[in-house]
Amino acid sequence: MNKITAAISAVGAYVPDFVLTNKMLESMVDTNDEWITSRTGIKERRILKDKDKGTSFLAIQAAKDLLQKKNLDPKEIDMVIMATATPDMPVAITSAYVATEIGAVNAFSFDLIAACSSFLFGMSTAARYIESGKYKKVLLIGADKMSSIIDYEDRTTCIIFGDGGGAVLFEPNEEGLGLQDEFLRTDGIGRQSLKIDAGGSILPASAETVANKQHFVFQDGQTVFKFAVSNMADVSEKIMLRNNLTNETVNWLVPHQANKRIVDATARRMKLDESKVMMNIHRYGNTTSATLPLLLSDYEKQLKKGDNLVFASFGGGFTWGSIYLKWAYNS
Ligand code: UT7
Repeated sequence: MNKITAAISAVGAYVPDFVLTNKMLESMVDTNDEWITSRTGIKERRILKDKDKGTSFLAIQAAKDLLQKKNLDPKEIDMVIMATATPDMPVAITSAYVATEIGAVNAFSFDLIAACSSFLFGMSTAARYIESGKYKKVLLIGADKMSSIIDYEDRTTCIIFGDGGGAVLFEPNEEGLGLQDEFLRTDGIGRQSLKIDAGGSILPASAETVANKQHFVFQDGQTVFKFAVSNMADVSEKIMLRNNLTNETVNWLVPHQANKRIVDATARRMKLDESKVMMNIHRYGNTTSATLPLLLSDYEKQLKKGDNLVFASFGGGFTWGSIYLKWAYNS
């Protein structure tokens, strides 16, 4: 019997209808379209406006999109991994609710939190379960309602983030397609550079933490930028060298959408032509755990069986890494 590899066999996605444009942000904070576009590449982002809906809503819609496209009975799903930095609530896991709502009644589930690298680390996790031979269908969802943790009076963060969800199905493959190699890293040096101060076990919520706006994302943008540029490029180059990949044989770079300048720097290091770089930051901004599956959804029709994809991400913690995956189907 051939070795089992973990291949992506379906993709689904969802973004909310409401579009928050750079022009609209100009009336909310001291910023302008030119600054945002030239510094980040972002033109607009989607926001989930419904007050009573959380990240699970985004995840459920993305999963339903996948189920419908694949014509898959949710009862066949063995496990649901939910990559997110914005769970519906503390303690009660979001993935359990999502799995139940989509009808994945035979699955067990858990949430996986690794900031902007949640989905990438989730790919690694999903692959291990498939490679074990014990699990046949693993649904990995990346979703974040970033608008729930953003201060729309802080121009340094509110221009960056957006809401969205994406899902992929991992299944066993015996043709050698799917996940080939990975290089994943973390470094606690990033703890103070990208964080939410309150609401955790160190500083629980209080009237004071709310008054001090300590439940919103804080980012030391320049520091994160420097680490992101060098580390995302380093791991992507490393995964290429380790797998004898060249700029000719890599078909696609699938990079976390934090800043177009970070993506460009990674592509430059890989000597990759712009046409091979997946990009949708101009439409969605940084959707944290959803950027990678949203890219796959947008580019799915262009992907061919056997294509070499290099995924790369960088996020809070710090967390970062790169994954080499061979695409397994033609749309
Ligand atoms: O996904 C998780 C990982 N996150 C990242 O990878 C994000 C990494 N960081 C970045 O993408 C960039 O650092 C930012 C987009 C956040 C900021 O861009 P920057 O080029 O690093 O700008 P900066 O922070 O150095 O600020 C430059 C200037 C400052 O003004 P002064 O001090 O030079 O007068 C800021 O106050 O731009 C000012 N500024 C703004 N101006 C207009 C900051 N935000 C804005 C704004 N509009 N929204």
